[in-house]
Amino acid sequence: MEEEEIYNLEESSDEAQSKEESRLTDPKEDPEEQKIEINLRPQKLSEFVGQRQIKEPLSISIEASKKRKEPIEHVLLYGNPGLGKTTLANIIANEMDSHIRVTAGPALERVGDLAAILSNLTEGDVLFIDEIHRMNKTIEEVLYSAMEDYALDIIVGKGPAARTLRMPLEKFTLIGATTKLNLLSGPLRDRFGHVFHLNFYETEDIKKIVERSAKILEIDIHDIASDIISARARRTPRVANRLLRRVRDYAEVKHNGIISEESTANALGMLNIDQYGLDQVDRKILACIIEKFEGGPVGLNTLSAAAAEDMDTIETIYEPYLLQIGMIERTPRGRCATRLAYEHLNLEPGNKKQPLNFKGWKM
Ligand SMILES: Nc1ncnc2c1ncn2[C@@H]1O[C@H](COP(=O)(O)OP(=O)(O)O)[C@@H](O)[C@H]1O
Ligand SMILES: [Mg+2]
Repeated sequence: MEEEEIYNLEESSDEAQSKEESRLTDPKEDPEEQKIEINLRPQKLSEFVGQRQIKEPLSISIEASKKRKEPIEHVLLYGNPGLGKTTLANIIANEMDSHIRVTAGPALERVGDLAAILSNLTEGDVLFIDEIHRMNKTIEEVLYSAMEDYALDIIVGKGPAARTLRMPLEKFTLIGATTKLNLLSGPLRDRFGHVFHLNFYETEDIKKIVERSAKILEIDIHDIASDIISARARRTPRVANRLLRRVRDYAEVKHNGIISEESTANALGMLNIDQYGLDQVDRKILACIIEKFEGGPVGLNTLSAAAAEDMDTIETIYEPYLLQIGMIERTPRGRCATRLAYEHLNLEPGNKKQPLNFKGWKM
């Protein structure tokens, strides 16, 4: 692949480029990835690596609820994609010996969809609503009484003759997951007994996840190779697992299946993933802020148009990690590239003569 193409921002809408394997797309779009993800998913809280700030209070609540023979209070999980929200929801249901019903905000189109799900729950069931911030307002209101009073308020009839019927529900636990807590309305947020924030993982924890996954997938991996993968996994378990599988593919074809320092470095080089775990889209975004907007500030809308990347994708997938590692800063007037970003891309502030097709970034 030629760097020229990567940094030619005028032509960056090229679809072929953006469909690269190394992209951080959602596994929901890929059934194969989804299947592997399910296999790698820890089933018990004790197997869930890291996030101690969640595991401790959660295990106490689970134990206490089980003692009282009551369902655990409603749980809201929020954090960036791939940090373990779906995994945790399944673990909670598992540890409570409950059945889990899974749905997602956008899948609930009418009030009746949610009413049907709720009225079919039996005592102690877990209802998992993924992307709960994308639920429509009228549907959300049905949840209020369901969560608080375990009742469904249904309006029957129209005009002056309309009456509200209250239908009792079994005691259940709602687990909501969201990447955007700020989009959740106050009344909904207040009805969760537990609100847990998933952080980016420490590199040691990512390494434990890589080693655990390698064991499950029966992959022979050198210690140094798992260090390299962990360092480039954007502090995110989903990315770590994906890199591990890509490196395995590469090693099987080119290095007799041995995942060594060399095969790992070569595989990640082929995927254009650099020492910070950035891929070509991250670098395109940074280059765009620097080259086209003189380092910023630039609004998300403008940036998304200039870089030819979907705004939501930039906001939920790329930006949080770039902020986390200090490559960009968010100011009231927009996003700015930091000194680290200039250094990483080998660009000088104020030097507009830099060619667009620089090859300076460090692998
Ligand atoms: N704490 C963890 N320990 C081990 N594996 C994890 C952990 N968190 C996530 N994973 C792995 O990462 C993948 C993505 O996690 P998932 O729960 O689907 O993320 P989210 O729902 O937040 O997008 C899962 O398949 C799982 O194997
Ligand atoms: Mg999920």
